Amino acid sequence: MKYQKWENLAHKYNRLWVQKYSLGPTRREVLKIILPKLQADASLKLFEAGCGTGQLIREISEQYPQIDYLGIDAAHNMIDAAKKSVTGQNIRFQACPIEDFKSTEKYDIILCTHAFPYFPDKEETLCKFADLCNPGATVIIVNSSTNSLKDLLINFFLKATTSKARYLSVKEMKVLFQKAGLNLKEVKVIREKFYMPTIALFHLEK
Ligand SMILES: C[S@@+](CC[C@H](N)C(=O)[O-])C[C@H]1O[C@@H](n2cnc3c(N)ncnc32)[C@H](O)[C@@H]1O
Repeated sequence: MKYQKWENLAHKYNRLWVQKYSLGPTRREVLKIILPKLQADASLKLFEAGCGTGQLIREISEQYPQIDYLGIDAAHNMIDAAKKSVTGQNIRFQACPIEDFKSTEKYDIILCTHAFPYFPDKEETLCKFADLCNPGATVIIVNSSTNSLKDLLINFFLKATTSKARYLSVKEMKVLFQKAGLNLKEVKVIREKFYMPTIALFHLEK
């Protein structure tokens, strides 16, 4: 099955070693950007693509329970775990691959951390994100990125533990953002350990 690796990982996902050096630091950086925005307006709507076990939505909703949240993920076991550990009146999780996701709702914040490399059609996904945006929306995408021989090597081994993946370079991502009409505000590199690949955070605006 297409998402079997993720289905199998769900029960131990929150205890994986990458939580310490990649996923946890990523959530910290995302919070730094979006919490001030949420502080200014509590009526915003947030969408997360490839939300895994819902850790990011949990950390945000603990501080801002009144925001409207929707997290989607292709793996049912990830969504089951998210539903068990993150609850709230305005929090929804849906098992759905991004390529099948359709919505007439618009969002003010769109997040996608460490999931974009696994999405089958990168260009279409970014156009979908742009389409889901309210005017002035913030989009944050974070993922491993291949910008050097070292990145190539590390990501080659990383790929073996995941579903089919393409870890695009910062340059390649920039071209796709432009095509989708998303304006890049900042690129930040998160790297906790020398043996980690470039983890690029893209802060975008519609
Ligand atoms: C490395 S995990 C990241 C989870 C979470 N965003 C985080 O930062 O910890 C990648 C997630 O992407 C999901 N995923 C993979 N392909 C997907 C697709 N086509 N549509 C939606 N989710 C997908 C997987 O099921 C998995 O939960």
